[in-house]
Amino acid sequence: MGLHTLVFMSNPRRPLEEHELKAIACEIHERAAKVNVKSVLLYSPEYIFEVLEGDSDDLDRVLGRISRDERHGNIQVLLYRPIESRWITDTSMGVLPSQPNKVVNRESLTMIADTALQNTERAGEAALGMLTEFYHAMSSGAPCIIEPGSSGAQDLTGSNEHA
Ligand SMILES: Cc1cc2nc3c(=O)[nH]c(=O)nc-3n(C[C@H](O)[C@H](O)[C@H](O)COP(=O)(O)O)c2cc1C
Repeated sequence: MGLHTLVFMSNPRRPLEEHELKAIACEIHERAAKVNVKSVLLYSPEYIFEVLEGDSDDLDRVLGRISRDERHGNIQVLLYRPIESRWITDTSMGVLPSQPNKVVNRESLTMIADTALQNTERAGEAALGMLTEFYHAMSSGAPCIIEPGSSGAQDLTGSNEHA
């Protein structure tokens, strides 16, 4: 019971198609509204990182569902601890930008995954920092955001080819 934060990483068993990613984004939004869990998810073909905030009972249920989802491989919980207040105001999901910034790039994801082999908590803190940065980059209009229900162009790759 009580407000908690949970950070996990996993390896997609196969690269997810754009339509699948959009479906997941919608699903997460719908469920998040029902159980008052908010999350930030970063997808890349090699790694998925996600931070969730909510009541621990709700987080356990979401984690159970995710663990049964065959699209995830090798799910590792990096952090799970009580928090005083939430910082995620809008559930968001995005794809690793093709124009990476200093914090969110392929190398940093690999580095966090390597750290997780030795020190789970340190990897969790690094993942949390990276997801926070990613969230703020998305909120300020970075092209990689997926906004379920929006009718505008949704550019998953960060390139403008399809915009
Ligand atoms: C990368 C990825 C991340 C996901 N994250 C969440 C999530 O944060 N919350 C959620 O409810 N479902 C999430 N899902 C979807 C669940 O794994 C699951 O498919 C969905 O909740 C339906 O579960 P059910 O069929 O047991 O009801 C995610 C799926 C994938 C592939």
